[in-house]
Amino acid sequence: LLGELQVLEQVDSTNARVLECMDAGTGHGLVMLAEQQTAGRGRRGRQWLSPFAAGITLSIGWQFQGGVQLLEGLSLAVGVALARALDRFDVPDVRLKWPNDVWCQGRKLAGVLLELSGDLTDRCGVVVGVGLNVGLPEELGQSIGQPWIDLTSVRPGVIRNQLTAAMLEELLAVLDEYPRSGFGAYRAAWSRLDQFAGREVTVHTGPREWHGFNRGVDESGALLLEIDGELRRFHGGEVSLRGR
Ligand code: BTN
Repeated sequence: LLGELQVLEQVDSTNARVLECMDAGTGHGLVMLAEQQTAGRGRRGRQWLSPFAAGITLSIGWQFQGGVQLLEGLSLAVGVALARALDRFDVPDVRLKWPNDVWCQGRKLAGVLLELSGDLTDRCGVVVGVGLNVGLPEELGQSIGQPWIDLTSVRPGVIRNQLTAAMLEELLAVLDEYPRSGFGAYRAAWSRLDQFAGREVTVHTGPREWHGFNRGVDESGALLLEIDGELRRFHGGEVSLRGR
């Protein structure tokens, strides 16, 4: 499944580089790892802090046949892959926050950014970018703006290269399987890992805020929120969720 592995000391953003290769038609199966990013990208236009050797920073390029709507649940399936990799190293209390943040002991351990390339109607390329905190300096962490945790605080013995290998194995397996199985094969696993299952949450969609009870995800991976007794669906993209 792995096409090419590039390990860089420093780069602006592994997602940006792999996306360029996808646009040029050469990115399928490309895995890029970097020790440091100078312009790491997070979801919703935020930056992702990636100081030297403080995390696992990787991107994978993958080409799918079919329209982009088939991929709605892929970002959630990617979260399941990461949870599986962490489980191999007995990292405790791993959960997912919709759509795909990885939480550990009630704080954010890793984030996922999917970026798209291609015409998106009958062919779409995806870059799956993952950033996992391994040992983030305390003073840097203060600028993150939400509760965070790093691997060293929960499981200091885990060898970064071994966890990276497990993450790549699980991620590539999901990318390979997803066109056949869709989100259906991951929904139950995702639901078991839901950090906010049944809890009161706030969802931000651009200017609006929605308060309700988290009722899990539907068969396509959309978030189900119960608001005044009615279920409302939220799709990925520019939506963010907070616990209350
Ligand atoms: C988030 O906001 O939670 C998503 C963070 C994704 C960060 C990773 S680090 C590797 C890849 N390259 C980037 O520029 N971003 C992603």
